Amino acid sequence: MNTPIYDYLKRYAASGMLRGHMPGHKGVSPVKGLESLYSLDITEISGADSLFEADGIILESERNMSSLYGSTASFYSAEGSTLCIQAMLAAVKFENRTVIAARNVHRSFLNAAALLGLDVEWLIPEYSDGILSGRINLVSLEEILRRTNNPCVYITSPDYTGRTADITGISALCRKYGAPLLADNAHGPHLRFMPEDIHPITLGADMCCDSAHKMLPALTGAAVLHTSSEKYAGILRHCMSMFASTSPSYLIMASLDLCCPYLADRIRGDIEEKLPLAERYRSRFADRLAFAEGDPFHITIKAAESGLDGLSLAQSLRENGAECEYADRDTVILLMSPSTPYEDFARLEDVTEKALLSAVRTPPRKNDFRAVLPEKAMSIRQAFFSPSETINVDDAEGRICASVLVPCPPAIPIAASGEIIDRECIGLFRRYGISRVIVVK
Ligand SMILES: Cc1ncc(COP(=O)(O)O)c(C=O)c1O
Repeated sequence: MNTPIYDYLKRYAASGMLRGHMPGHKGVSPVKGLESLYSLDITEISGADSLFEADGIILESERNMSSLYGSTASFYSAEGSTLCIQAMLAAVKFENRTVIAARNVHRSFLNAAALLGLDVEWLIPEYSDGILSGRINLVSLEEILRRTNNPCVYITSPDYTGRTADITGISALCRKYGAPLLADNAHGPHLRFMPEDIHPITLGADMCCDSAHKMLPALTGAAVLHTSSEKYAGILRHCMSMFASTSPSYLIMASLDLCCPYLADRIRGDIEEKLPLAERYRSRFADRLAFAEGDPFHITIKAAESGLDGLSLAQSLRENGAECEYADRDTVILLMSPSTPYEDFARLEDVTEKALLSAVRTPPRKNDFRAVLPEKAMSIRQAFFSPSETINVDDAEGRICASVLVPCPPAIPIAASGEIIDRECIGLFRRYGISRVIVVK
């Protein structure tokens, strides 16, 4: 598969043209070692196309990506899934939809909902791993669909722990009620190439975002917005441009371009080689560690259930040479990918053995809990843009959450903007180490 963006950047860097255009570094690195990076970093010059009016090399590369995912159209984002989520929600705003969203959304969803003034009907998943992860109950979803006028459905799958939703079941329900299905697939761009293709577009989603930078060999910020619908294909680029910088990074776009031949020729081999290694890791520690189910490349250790303090386990892993993606007292997430070097899996086994010798033990305990939705006092947008103040969590009972203060990762809301902070929220804030909250004055 060709790489039109990368090829153009290479040709331009070699051409020796006088750079009478942005960026200001003029292709010259300020330090040794970054020369090629700076020489390839350009802006929308003649021949380089323009992301939000693409009709040249960028469009050609996006079409390569679209053919790999079997989408109707795919659009590049140099600003992560965050931009794709804003664009998906803007597209349904044009149709005045009410968004039914499974509660374990990423903060980017709430920010977009505030900016767009969206009405959100929350669906509380059956939680299993703290606030991070839960199963979507189809009966509850149908109940909300039945009573919602002009709905659309928004899910996060895989979630932060790697758990995937029953997208086939959810999309069938969505079709029954005429609701487009939007999937935050930030953690799942590789799912298309697994032994069984479980990518949201394959399973019936109308739109989904893939953070290529999370699971594929792409630069931070690289993401793709896919759609299976002609209708949305016609407006998504415009929707993206409403929120995006007018200077998207060509380095990030080139890294998406370079993903295309990787996805066409190599990812399946990498997956075939690495899946047994991820499996071997789980088997080796099965008697000492409990693991969450889901995407095999998300190695999610249920620390609390394993009788370990998650933060101490993460610290012991760090001291022995492995940095994890996320840790709280109950959960530790080690994020592997099809590109994780072969030898790193064996290394991770050794590091884990050592870390288990020093990690603090706790009485084993399930991390199950059932969340109850806090009472809503005003819309997300109204709360977001109200005068606000930051106060101690201990003084927050009864106050209205203005905007969401959660650590990122995982950036999942405990109280959403406009909701009244209750005792349960305060307990959860403390459990996740949040000591200050922003409330409406
Ligand atoms: C589930 C989920 N959705 C969306 C995002 C935002 O993605 P990005 O960082 O690519 O903008 C994240 C980021 O961590 C995430 O975990």
